[in-house]
Amino acid sequence: EDEINAQLDNGRLAVIPVIDSTNQYLLDRMDRLQSGDACVAEYQQAGRGRRGRQWISPFGVNLYLSMYWRLEQGPAAAMGLSLVIGIVLAEALQELGAANVRVKWPNDIYLEDRKLAGILVELTGKTGDAAQIVIGAGINLGMRAPAAEAINQGWINLQEAGVTVNRNALSARIVNKLRSALAQFEQDGLTPFVGRWARLDNFIDRPVKLLIGDREIFGIARGIDQQGGLILEQNGVKKSWVGGEISLRPQ
Ligand code: ATP
Ligand code: BTN
Repeated sequence: EDEINAQLDNGRLAVIPVIDSTNQYLLDRMDRLQSGDACVAEYQQAGRGRRGRQWISPFGVNLYLSMYWRLEQGPAAAMGLSLVIGIVLAEALQELGAANVRVKWPNDIYLEDRKLAGILVELTGKTGDAAQIVIGAGINLGMRAPAAEAINQGWINLQEAGVTVNRNALSARIVNKLRSALAQFEQDGLTPFVGRWARLDNFIDRPVKLLIGDREIFGIARGIDQQGGLILEQNGVKKSWVGGEISLRPQ
């Protein structure tokens, strides 16, 4: 813990051995937190993904990190915020040697076309008011196959890709970078991040499909727009797509 704190620019980071969910830990304590406070755990008994799905969280081998942020613009800005988080995670991992890490709209981190990490943004606050936000990131560092049996899609960990990172160094780097990127996002919006996203986009200019409920929509991914919507080109016509119910898949 001291080692991680020494690497943080400032602020507070809690290190917890076992917890239901690091996101839940911060959600339960929001009234006492300030923007940038964070926690990491060794093990999550009930790690979660989007839409009530489970995040597989074996002991000691991966990173489970959450950070609190008070977003003055309110919940409407949360969409762009989750893209900014993806950029931060991907760039942090690249700097530590994982050159081929990419982002997948809206909130996954990919490596070799498989899921390396997931981001879960949970928030409270009415439109018009500031939003209280908890950002969660789960990054697979050294998870082995038996633990991951229940994962129903392609996944990967950093070790498998030949990259060994120091977990404390990675945590500190992510927290420091998130704090400055979120402050910049609050000031300048998504615009400064659109180009960074394009450089990291796993699916840019590739044929993809969007799954929306039981609908499938085919097209070519063309990056994100200024609002953070996914641009899909169909028959030469580009259209933006937004919404938490959309899943992007390769064709
Ligand atoms: P979407 O494309 O809509 O984001 P998703 O299938 O990635 O879809 P999420 O809710 O974002 O769904 O993520 C949860 C899913 O991630 C789980 O259903 C499981 O398939 C997968 N998953 C769970 N734990 C892990 C893990 N440790 N590493 C990689 N993938 C995982
Ligand atoms: C997803 O891809 O659906 C997002 C997964 C997010 C997992 C992280 S692990 C740390 C934090 N605590 C949780 O319970 N979930 C997030």
